[in-house]
Amino acid sequence: MTRPGTMTAQADRPLLVLGIESSCDDTAASVLRLDDGAQVLSSIVIGQDQAHAPYGGVVPEIAARAHAALIDGVVADALREADVTMQQIDLIAATAGPGLIGGVMSGFSFAKGLALATGLPLVPVNHLAGHALSVGLEEAVPFPYLLLLVSGGHTQILLVEDVDRFRRIGTTIDDAAGEAFDKTAKLLGLDGAGGPAIQRLAEQGNANAFTLPTPLANRPGCDFSFSGLKTAVRLLIADNEPLTEAMRADIAASFQAAAVDHLVRRVRRAFEGLAEDGGAPLHLVAAGGVAANTALRQQLGAVAEEFGARLVLPGFAFCTDNAAMIAYAGAQLYRRDPTCADGALSLAPRARWPLDEREANVTLGSGRKGRKA
Ligand code: KG4
Ligand code: ZN
Repeated sequence: MTRPGTMTAQADRPLLVLGIESSCDDTAASVLRLDDGAQVLSSIVIGQDQAHAPYGGVVPEIAARAHAALIDGVVADALREADVTMQQIDLIAATAGPGLIGGVMSGFSFAKGLALATGLPLVPVNHLAGHALSVGLEEAVPFPYLLLLVSGGHTQILLVEDVDRFRRIGTTIDDAAGEAFDKTAKLLGLDGAGGPAIQRLAEQGNANAFTLPTPLANRPGCDFSFSGLKTAVRLLIADNEPLTEAMRADIAASFQAAAVDHLVRRVRRAFEGLAEDGGAPLHLVAAGGVAANTALRQQLGAVAEEFGARLVLPGFAFCTDNAAMIAYAGAQLYRRDPTCADGALSLAPRARWPLDEREANVTLGSGRKGRKA
């Protein structure tokens, strides 16, 4: 019931939300309790690294089948860990794109089945909006905030104006930042997830050992490019083979320094542009898998300070793909307008789904070569 002086009935009472994520190679489910703040009661993420390892990258068909095989168990685990039953859930939120379409369909179809069987509302969530709003799991950051979204498929700077309004300021013209970390890791023969492996190796190396080119040094604007950096690393390795352990660490450190420097310079430029336009936002947020990078986190803090802004970061576990961020974004959309759940049962998931729909026809940099668009 709505009490006088309060917003809406939904905003008054806590919501228990079940989130489902399956857009790439992580099958994830989460139960989130939302009242004044957000409390993650469970967040289960099952990676598929081993299934894809023999192929050197994510194989869409294998991912789709793995999601279909895992999703019911992952949802059951999320409910069990949260100590809630399906009957207590108020809302289901599931990723409906962008991503590898077979995987998105596995998760979203499962969510449709659950919604149909329980009669619960289902909110289709844009995976990128999940990342963009994920900081809300940490604290409620007021809009607008400047967002650096850096994942395996995306590298963008956005002004987040509301839960459903994003203005794109910059994007990559070729590879995504995470992709560059992953490819560099592969070139250095590192096992497992590329970004964390580079970060670990870089800690033992000297970032000044090799000078790598600063991407797009003379190009105005806030766009990114990582393919030149990747080529430079490839040539560096070829020139110095066979590599000693110390050289491998130095290359990892030099690459990480160059990649982070490129990201940070573009964020600085975005702040400058917004300041010229009448006011820089008071908060800077970074999200997506690469936002877990410690060197990047440190340097972003310094840039925010330069412009009198505060850096707010999601916890490490909520930077990489997870379903808590999907539950959170879905709940925010639903609280804003419950009709966002209308028609979900007949909705077709989208492989491409730009956050800034005005950019819908832009092909460059919106994940053309990446896993997500
Ligand atoms: O957001 P995410 O889990 O999946 C996508 O939506 O793509 O991001 C995965 C990406 C991978 O490329 C991974 O190498 C990168 O995030 N990553 C990192 C770190 N942890 C994950 N990159 C640099 N440093 C890290 N610590
Ligand atoms: Zn992601």
